[in-house]
Amino acid sequence: MHKDISEILVSQQEIDDICTTLGKQLTKDYEGKNPLLVGLLKGCVPFMSDLSKKIDLKLEQAYMSVSSYHGGISSSGNVNIKMDLDISIQDRDVIIVEDIVDTANTIVTIINLFKHRGAKSVKVATLLDKPAGRTQTYEPEYVGKTIPKAFVVGYGLDFDEYYRNLPYVGILKPEVYKK
Ligand code: IMP
Repeated sequence: MHKDISEILVSQQEIDDICTTLGKQLTKDYEGKNPLLVGLLKGCVPFMSDLSKKIDLKLEQAYMSVSSYHGGISSSGNVNIKMDLDISIQDRDVIIVEDIVDTANTIVTIINLFKHRGAKSVKVATLLDKPAGRTQTYEPEYVGKTIPKAFVVGYGLDFDEYYRNLPYVGILKPEVYKK
């Protein structure tokens, strides 16, 4: 385990099982459709890659970069689009792929934007859900694992752009971000 991590919350094996389970569920729920997976960069990258390989459908993948953090450990509340989609989502069945839902500010903003742009349906697949952090009522449709209120890193999740490459999700030691 990395020296800055106090506890592993989701192991590599558990992540693998989550991708298999959610992949099967999405394959069943979207049978006969050609969904568009939209990954929210950068945290979605490992999850998008592993989850999409477990979905047995003709699907498209696109990415968007949004940010609500400014190097700290809490959401600023304002969602900025840093890089927009390069395709139209009009009449598409969209599945947003997220690393974690915390306050839900990011996801609710993007869902509303996609509906405004004419998507046929918009659902969310998130690796992690942190319901204790919510500032508004929202529940994602597909959740890998519900976790307690802690700042976690790894498997795409960062602190100040570091730790995204850890193969598991772990709790970051508070002394690291309190420095
Ligand atoms: P929300 O808008 O507060 O739901 O936050 C969503 C985004 O905040 C996620 O996509 C992450 O980029 C980031 N985030 C929230 N909680 C954590 C965490 O525990 N570790 C790392 N990033 C987080």
